[in-house]
Amino acid sequence: MPKNDNIDNIIDHKLFTEQDIHNMCVKLGKQLTEDYAGKKPLIVGALKGAIFFLTDLVREMNVKEQIDFMDVSSYGDSLESSGQVKIISDLATDVKDRDVLIVEDIVDTGLTLKFMKELLKKRGAKSVKCCVLLNKKANRQIDIDVEYYGSKVGNEFVVGYGLDFMSFYRNLRYIGVLKPEAIKLAANK
Ligand code: IMP
Repeated sequence: MPKNDNIDNIIDHKLFTEQDIHNMCVKLGKQLTEDYAGKKPLIVGALKGAIFFLTDLVREMNVKEQIDFMDVSSYGDSLESSGQVKIISDLATDVKDRDVLIVEDIVDTGLTLKFMKELLKKRGAKSVKCCVLLNKKANRQIDIDVEYYGSKVGNEFVVGYGLDFMSFYRNLRYIGVLKPEAIKLAANK
């Protein structure tokens, strides 16, 4: 692990291996291929956490799709949602009459997905669904339909495969749980 050299001080344990993640992508890709057959969905990746998931997922989908990205943020560098979602950078594609599939790394409070879904519906999308890799249900603050997800996770902070802590550790190939002491240390810096 040359890129993140002190990783053993940071990761408590691995939650999902590369193989686990691959299996989730294959399963979701198969389902999405069936559900979007004959359609031309616009895949909207939520930056930056969804980058690796999106690239692996779309290559498991056998549909005529287009890809665009949107950067929305509610966290900043914090571990908890600020409750305020804002657009950092917007889509270049018109979503009017499109079947839109939002691809997101993790759903936690649900505020980010709710914001994105409502915005894209308001802009005239024909349908708006979402596919998230991880579903952190314990912390949900609002009722939101999560149409597709790879796995549930508990109320723990996870990093890797796009998921970050203070913008670091996205490039881990696996997903691991952050050590509580790493969180405390960062908070005291
Ligand atoms: P929500 O609006 O609270 O559902 O938050 C969704 C966003 O929170 C995700 O796109 C992530 O950026 C971030 N997030 C929530 N939980 C975690 C986690 O365990 N690790 C890393 N990022 C997380």
